[in-house]
Amino acid sequence: MSHDSRIKLSKDGVSLSRLVFGAWRLLDSAVRPDADAVARLIGSAVDLGLTSFDHADIYGNYEVEAAFGTGLLRWKGKRDSIELISKCDIMLASANRPQNRLKHYDTSAAHIVASVDRSLANLHTDYLDLLLLHRPDPLMDADETAAALAGLVKSGKVRAVGVSNFTPSQFDLLASRLPFALATNQIEMSVLKTNALTDGSLDHAQRLSYAPMIWSPLGGGSLFTGKEAREARVRAALASVAAETGVADLAAIAIAWLLRHPARLVPVLGTMKPERLAAMVKALDIVLDRQQWFAILEASEGRPVA
Ligand SMILES: NC(=O)c1ccc[n+]([C@@H]2O[C@H](COP(=O)([O-])OP(=O)(O)OC[C@H]3O[C@@H](n4cnc5c(N)ncnc54)[C@H](OP(=O)(O)O)[C@@H]3O)[C@@H](O)[C@H]2O)c1
Repeated sequence: MSHDSRIKLSKDGVSLSRLVFGAWRLLDSAVRPDADAVARLIGSAVDLGLTSFDHADIYGNYEVEAAFGTGLLRWKGKRDSIELISKCDIMLASANRPQNRLKHYDTSAAHIVASVDRSLANLHTDYLDLLLLHRPDPLMDADETAAALAGLVKSGKVRAVGVSNFTPSQFDLLASRLPFALATNQIEMSVLKTNALTDGSLDHAQRLSYAPMIWSPLGGGSLFTGKEAREARVRAALASVAAETGVADLAAIAIAWLLRHPARLVPVLGTMKPERLAAMVKALDIVLDRQQWFAILEASEGRPVA
């Protein structure tokens, strides 16, 4: 048994690769990658079947999109063979945005439209496959925000719209004002962060038949670097499942644990290392059985289920 390599987020929505490349950490290494290095990274991801690239306006202190865009110009592939995702609404207090006196959110029509225009320019493209509102904004005027999002879809600048870090109720409010379905909710989840299993997020996704995207699917790396008993316990559980499945890489098992969930989770992988992407793509080849899945949950929670 294996998992499909593509996934439709919602019934009439956009299709992504089942594993998505997350661009957040693109500029985190000591040596800033030049356009050729970024183009090679894009090529490696695409060769592995990761055709979908997750961005946000703010990544790398507002600099990742443009760095990725210079790589895209060098990359030899076709725009329509990949999917570009970006986000907006977080306003960082940053030297790159001197007008922001403090970190806040902005879901006004003016900000959303301006942010998308900047993302398109940075990425050297005339459309985003998917635009997400990055964080729920307590000052969101659902009518104004929905009208801006619908306008972007109508103009062709954005193919589909979703949200990130929204509660089901926040999702429903925005959805109630849109002429189309929201494509996804991108939420945090991993073997170390399991509250989406019980807080209603995944129930909501299954009920409305959208596939949630999953950020920090390895706990941002803490699964491997963590020194607490819990992390050690989870690594041991992953190792014994690895031995049973024949897929040795613990990260691949952690991703397979997410893929096993019936809500059709779409992990967004954060590594910048092609060899680690290649190891994790092996997750598509395995479907954990129930007891393997529960053994990992038990290790995470530190006790058997009730
Ligand atoms: N919507 C949101 O609010 C939100 C928030 C955060 C992130 N995101 C998205 O989610 C993506 C993924 O988040 P993330 O970077 O935290 O994901 P992650 O995959 O949980 O963590 C990636 C980190 O784990 C490290 N790592 C250590 N050992 C690893 C191993 N064996 N295999 C793979 N990685 C290993 C990586 O280091 P190396 O690079 O050295 O491999 C990297 O620093 C981001 O790029 C972004 O697109 C969205």
